Amino acid sequence: MSDYAGLGDVAGKRVLVRSDLNVPLDGTEITDDGRIRASVPTIRALADAGARVVVVAHLGRPKGAVEERYSLSPVAERLGELLGQEVAFATDTVGEAARATVAGLADGDVAVLENVRFNPGETSKLDEERAAFAADLAGLVDAFVSDGFGVVHRKQASVYDVAQLLPHAMGGLVSAELDVMRRLTESPERPYVVVLGGSKVSDKLGVIDNLLGKADKLLIGGGMVFTFLRAQGLEVGKSLLEEDQLDTVRGYLDRARETGVEIVLPVDVVVDTEFPSGDREPHPTVVPADQIPADSLGLDIGPASGEAFAAALSGAHTVFWNGPMGVFEVAAFAEGTRAVAQALTEVDGLSVVGGGDSAAAVRALGFDEAAFGHISTGGGASLEYLEGKELPGIKVLED
Ligand code: 3PG
Repeated sequence: MSDYAGLGDVAGKRVLVRSDLNVPLDGTEITDDGRIRASVPTIRALADAGARVVVVAHLGRPKGAVEERYSLSPVAERLGELLGQEVAFATDTVGEAARATVAGLADGDVAVLENVRFNPGETSKLDEERAAFAADLAGLVDAFVSDGFGVVHRKQASVYDVAQLLPHAMGGLVSAELDVMRRLTESPERPYVVVLGGSKVSDKLGVIDNLLGKADKLLIGGGMVFTFLRAQGLEVGKSLLEEDQLDTVRGYLDRARETGVEIVLPVDVVVDTEFPSGDREPHPTVVPADQIPADSLGLDIGPASGEAFAAALSGAHTVFWNGPMGVFEVAAFAEGTRAVAQALTEVDGLSVVGGGDSAAAVRALGFDEAAFGHISTGGGASLEYLEGKELPGIKVLED
């Protein structure tokens, strides 16, 4: 019998797999295929077990209507290359094309449906609209496997509602990601150091709040750090600043002092007078964090900060990192992110790279993925897990 994750014999069955294939594209060119590669083992296992695999996924954030630039067609092609077998592509998600494509599958075949977010029912806030769309999806198949860890925090039809309509199972990727998340939250080996970057503090409030009671050290870089520097009374020039978060951040700095959590901020910053764009040659200048010129903006942590962050990480036994330290896509502002990535590869213990951007960064900077304990496919999902929030796409599998 070809059982998959307790679903019973899947041979000959049509199995809908929710994957997270939301990869960065430059036109139709995939610039980082990490999420597609991470999705392969579950699809492979089901196809090898004789299932007729129907993959449903999203790309970008189209608002419930077709937007050609968000077509999953190039992704389906890449999936076929990675699987080493032909992958059929349905030009709609639940319409005539999808029905015909699924009907044409033989045991062990794989198909990808067009971007699920081209359908308004997928992301509707109205339960009945999502349920109606989920029923259309469920009508195509016999069973459901939830394997898109990056979307389990979304209460959306192909993640949440469809699981209520079909025999369902947790896919291998979601299960492996959850194991790592549990290791990070249930008695992590200490010292436990968390590195946070990325552009916005407001995206990280919940996780900072939660980690102030759990981590030993919190290292902060990326665009969000300027709100921290400003909260300490420093001038940040034209750097990204969320004025409305200054009080909250001051509160975090106070709480960190009270709870004994060490917050490490950069001591130097790489600035330029403009955000990098087009053909303009960048003019990176390293300045002390308390001397950011009024006409400049911070685009990376500086070299002394990179060293300080690496030193803070050197004794850690558990590390979670989410968010690049600077505009790593531009070589002149990539060194801070590189220094953190390098330090993670040297951790004696569990090192986890969480998030689309940080995962893409380590690959773009040429690091060997095997050098990290785990590279998560979930950005928002892993942050929400660490915040202690209930993830609808997980909860529905457990009910
Ligand atoms: C991600 O990129 O984090 C996931 O694919 C979820 O995408 P979303 O934030 O658009 O829901």
